[in-house]
Amino acid sequence: MSSPVLRQILISALCVSVCVLPRGVVGAPPAKSQPPAVVYASGDLVRVVRKETLQFNKEPFLGAPKGQEFTVLKHEPGKGPVYLAFLQKEGGVIAVTLPEESLELVAPDGWMILLRGCQAFRDQRFEEAGKLLARAVQDAAYKAVATEVLGRVEAIMGAARQILQVEGDAALKASPENYGARLVAGQKFFAEAVSGGRGLAGDLASRGFMSLAISLDDGIERLSARVCPRKEAGGVEIPATRLAREEVAAHAMQAAFSVVRCRQAIAVRRMVEAKGYIEDGLRAEPARPELKAMQTKVLADIADAEDRYNAALSNQKRNLPQALLALERGLKTCADLPQLIKLREDLSGALEEKTAPPVTPAFLSIAKTSVPSATLEEGRRLYTTRCTQCHDLEMLDKRTVTAWKSEVAGMARRAKIDDKQQDVIVQYLAAAQVVAAQPPARKSE
Ligand code: HEC
Repeated sequence: MSSPVLRQILISALCVSVCVLPRGVVGAPPAKSQPPAVVYASGDLVRVVRKETLQFNKEPFLGAPKGQEFTVLKHEPGKGPVYLAFLQKEGGVIAVTLPEESLELVAPDGWMILLRGCQAFRDQRFEEAGKLLARAVQDAAYKAVATEVLGRVEAIMGAARQILQVEGDAALKASPENYGARLVAGQKFFAEAVSGGRGLAGDLASRGFMSLAISLDDGIERLSARVCPRKEAGGVEIPATRLAREEVAAHAMQAAFSVVRCRQAIAVRRMVEAKGYIEDGLRAEPARPELKAMQTKVLADIADAEDRYNAALSNQKRNLPQALLALERGLKTCADLPQLIKLREDLSGALEEKTAPPVTPAFLSIAKTSVPSATLEEGRRLYTTRCTQCHDLEMLDKRTVTAWKSEVAGMARRAKIDDKQQDVIVQYLAAAQVVAAQPPARKSE
């Protein structure tokens, strides 16, 4: 599938409300003995429940830490993995996959329910809209705004129903005068309700809820076209929109994409990049709750990484191991803080001695190992090339040799290394750990 096609799927996935009724009974009936399969709908939000690796075109693509959330593009239960949306830097959408059993559905929160309620109204699924909005009213955080929306939507749906009833009343039609009068009365009633709804949509936009505003206004637009096809009926004018509709729609879309990008950046700890997406998204939709929630966390992590940077800087001369530790912790919190990246370059020599010392004569004399140096070199080569594809190397003293062994085994599938290569890496790590504890640099002084 090409990126524009996927982009379209993602747009509808993000914007089309999906069923929020209990899942699990969709599609073909499952085989007798099996429990009903979980089925994700396009647009569902899912969470990764264990360490995973995203696949793209059946190749490992990127690590996905436990807890990362994705928007589902496509899922056919029992027929392979779940397709998830991934936004590339340049703006293209690709479909990455994860196995079904590594995902769980994220239960929609008050905001999601409110948004989906508005989107159901937009798509003229009135019964569902009523149910969802009534549920959103139960949420303390969104009670006020959900109550307003529900009130307006109910008034509009009620008035529309009345018009349709009059139009469908054959007995009434037999007396044209009566019919005309009832129709005009219904239309006036509808126009009043629309006026309230248009007003609320305008109000929501000025309060920064672009995605609610455009869904509500779109729904009114469509419903008006159905029940009052002519803008003026019996002297009644249906109030026009109060939104700059194209602009508001574009802003709502941009905010939805920013949410996806921000989630991706946070998953790989690129907090500075995430901060940029949050700012873009909030410029487009200032009240977007997901962005505000992520903003709090991202700013705290950046501040924390800045503290680590300062600690590393002040320790650089006095206590190098301490400085390296602070540097490592800082980069774990925020992998793209420019000053930390610069410091890592400045300290790269010292860092190498602590993470992957080269196999030199000094190394061999300190390590006192029976492992041939060619094997150690091969181990180092594998370790520094295969294990750095997704993350930096860690301090060797961070774990025991036994723990390293299980870490290497755990990462072997991702790094695509076999048992033999695992052994070679572990042999190198065991020797290197001894060396790192007693840097050759000091020996040669
Ligand atoms: C395809 C990507 C990928 C490759 C290749 C990879 N890792 Fe990882 N590794 C990850 C991800 C993602 C995490 C962090 C999230 C997690 O724990 O799953 C991680 C975490 C780690 C951790 C920290 C675990 C912890 O709990 O603190 C260590 C240590 C590690 N990897 C070692 C290795 C070694 C050794 C190799 C090479 C044999 C390797 N990695 C290759 C993706 C990869």
